[in-house]
Amino acid sequence: PNSPANTLLLFGATGDLAQRMLLPSLFGLDGDGLLPEALRIFGTARSDLDGAGFRAAAKESLERYIDADRLIPDVVDRFLGRLHYVPLDASQPEQFSRLAEAIGPIEGNLAIFLSTAPSLFGSTIAGLSAAGLAGETVRLALEKPLGTDLASSRVINDAVAAAFPEERTFRIDHYLGKETVQNLLALRFGNSLFEPLWNSTGIDHVQITVSETVGLEGRAGYYDTSGALRDMVQNHMLQLLALVAMEPPSHFDANAVRDEKVKVLRSLRPITAESAAGETVTGQYKAGAVGGDPVPGYLDELGGPSDTETFVALKAHVDNWRWKGVPFYLRTGKRLPTRRSEIFIQFKGVPHSIFAARGATVQPNKLLISLQPEENIRLLVMAKQPGLDRQGIRLREVPLDLGMANAFADTRRRIAYERLILDLLEGDPTLFVRRDEVEAQWEWIDAIRNGWSANGITPKAYGAGSWGPSAAIALTERDGVSWHE
Ligand code: BG6
Repeated sequence: PNSPANTLLLFGATGDLAQRMLLPSLFGLDGDGLLPEALRIFGTARSDLDGAGFRAAAKESLERYIDADRLIPDVVDRFLGRLHYVPLDASQPEQFSRLAEAIGPIEGNLAIFLSTAPSLFGSTIAGLSAAGLAGETVRLALEKPLGTDLASSRVINDAVAAAFPEERTFRIDHYLGKETVQNLLALRFGNSLFEPLWNSTGIDHVQITVSETVGLEGRAGYYDTSGALRDMVQNHMLQLLALVAMEPPSHFDANAVRDEKVKVLRSLRPITAESAAGETVTGQYKAGAVGGDPVPGYLDELGGPSDTETFVALKAHVDNWRWKGVPFYLRTGKRLPTRRSEIFIQFKGVPHSIFAARGATVQPNKLLISLQPEENIRLLVMAKQPGLDRQGIRLREVPLDLGMANAFADTRRRIAYERLILDLLEGDPTLFVRRDEVEAQWEWIDAIRNGWSANGITPKAYGAGSWGPSAAIALTERDGVSWHE
């Protein structure tokens, strides 16, 4: 059961994610010779296409999303030759026998990727089981949203578990496929330098920012029922927080890593009806300008009224020995000034400054882990400005840069999905989210949403192109902390 899959079945194959990310990722792997030699890829969706039509659509998306110099004709042809298509209405389980027939006998492993609306998960899984496509050699990957709250995520997880045991279930959080996220583990556990300081004695606070410049991007139907808290915090940001805060796992393997993450998620102090107003800020963008271009407000893009938040900032606490008293500030939003994902760690200041009488200020050390737009790890340290110091000593913050782009200039930056698809094909679940993690994440998020409704908290307006409502600034300033800009 642990050999690489030789068949991949992709649901939602004509959808946005498949065209924009999944097919280009598969092509990227193929171009590097990383796909199993005999891998066949079956796309399925409701669109009434034939194989040729699907290959033509796939070719178009490669041309759109892959740099022209990588589109070597032989490689493109070999890739397109792997593609097959079966039209299917996934809400009709009886149609799945056609799919099984098209695939034929499976020698080896089958990987299935559901990139469809979760409302179809139940019938898809029932159809797969009935058609004999859920046996021991089949792995199932699921895309978010895995529910809209704890109760609905349990329904999905139960439906999945009825046919696929946990070790064959691969829940995707594409942030876990990002290079820098794993580099965080290398930094923490491949160096002896940081770990002794990585606790409430050494660290003052942590900030996690995921800012986006885009707005609704034509995803109104989904986004308006989700909002920033459930779209970004429930999954990507809590996973980042867990990786920053977790204890060292004893091995880099699926269960050891996920055991440590889930302990963090369960140690998150619940934000309740009493604390929601003080520890969270929500916002919704109105018209403004991003990068110099005027953009409409959320309600105009949506074309109707809505209380959905497009921005959230919050203060989280991990209630355990290591992190007692260390706030984790999280913020994310659409239509912010820049596209940036980063983890910012501020260490404690020096206990006593010997330079004070000479007029110099000592800043606390900071570690900045940037995921995007560029991958970078940077440690800010104090250094003396060169000179004879006749007017007093001058200290300055200077970066020790681990510029990933320079250090590893000849490695191509991969789409997060490339790694995740390869891990799925090979059956390695380390970078996928386990059921207990997802449910712990939802439990914490549900409490926040209950706190909002109990207090009648609705999003405050912010201008597109700003860093969210001013209350988000106050959230940290109150603690004497500034958001890292
Ligand atoms: C997705 C969200 O999970 O992540 C989107 O649904 C968001 O709203 C996207 O834009 C951000 O991903 P990335 O990789 O561009 O930071």
